[in-house]
Amino acid sequence: MALDLGLTQVSQLAFGYWHSQVLIAAVELSVFDALADGPLGVEEVAERCAVPADSALRLLDAATALRLLVRDADGGYANSRTAERLLTTGSPESLVRWVRVMGRWYQPWGRLGQALEQGHAVEDRSERLTDDPAYVEDFILGMHEYNSRTAEAVARALPAEGARRLIDVGGGAGSYSIAFCRVWEGLRAEVVDLAPVVELAGKVIGEAGLADRITARTGDYYQDAFGTDADVVLLSNVLHQESPENCLSILGRSAAALRPGGRVLVHGHFLEESRTAPVFTTLHNLSALALWSGGRSYTTDEMAELMTAAGLSDIEVLPTAEQSARLLVGRTAGAAGSTDSTGTAG
Ligand SMILES: C[S@@+](CC[C@H](N)C(=O)[O-])C[C@H]1O[C@@H](n2cnc3c(N)ncnc32)[C@H](O)[C@@H]1O
Repeated sequence: MALDLGLTQVSQLAFGYWHSQVLIAAVELSVFDALADGPLGVEEVAERCAVPADSALRLLDAATALRLLVRDADGGYANSRTAERLLTTGSPESLVRWVRVMGRWYQPWGRLGQALEQGHAVEDRSERLTDDPAYVEDFILGMHEYNSRTAEAVARALPAEGARRLIDVGGGAGSYSIAFCRVWEGLRAEVVDLAPVVELAGKVIGEAGLADRITARTGDYYQDAFGTDADVVLLSNVLHQESPENCLSILGRSAAALRPGGRVLVHGHFLEESRTAPVFTTLHNLSALALWSGGRSYTTDEMAELMTAAGLSDIEVLPTAEQSARLLVGRTAGAAGSTDSTGTAG
């Protein structure tokens, strides 16, 4: 039986957002970038971050208490080693964009109760990739910052089987196409995503030196066909954004894009059958409601059922390097990689 929480733990839950807001505000105000070249006093931080000195002092002290900063003997503030690695813009391990995205998501999360009452997001579409280029860039490149750490391990989780062509539906910055091309020799990949995302993907793919093997093209996964004769269709971190009906439609068109015996890979965070673990995925499920009405976290069994209904068989569930993430693999059988009518609804 699970142990009861004490007063301290319940308080920590209630005050949890105080902690995250210190991190988010410090990133939004570029505090860690201001300290990137060495320690500074309060007045200098206040000036560089364009805030009153009293505000700077309170924020710097709280960030020090949370071990994001350290204070030296002269009263100057410096980045902790963690902040240097993860919270400065220029670091190769930077999570700055992703923290800014979490700052953006705080708004719908702050109205979670209302979203739960309504049964859908309070401001639907607001966190969709629409016409806010700064948000699109942070979301897509932030996800790349985050995912590129573990993406190659996903590609290593299963054999290439001589695959030559992978279609990465909702592929974002192309993080997984890049990883699969690095790990699977001779593979070419196509990222399919919305127009503003495709532009960013092109840049990331070019910087990865893989422009000769990976292309990015515009496509709408609600209605477009994804191609023909592919060896693999990848749906990474996509289906939790969508209702079962949309998942079935996307999976059906994924199966239809494959050669006979080709594979659909569904990568993402899934609930255990109890639905109460992993903790991250139970929260992801709420995030899907608060941010993108229609989305939800599925159990692996629920996803396997959808894959089967879309005409895929031999479904396997593989672990990945990211603890709460899983990779589901389904295969087309028989002639022409076709699906039945249940898998092709619009
Ligand atoms: C959570 S991100 C996952 C990106 C990438 N697959 C990954 O795992 O890093 C979801 C992706 O779905 C894309 N997307 C959302 N709606 C779409 C649509 N209607 N058609 C194509 N892509 C879409 C988004 O632009 C975004 O890149």
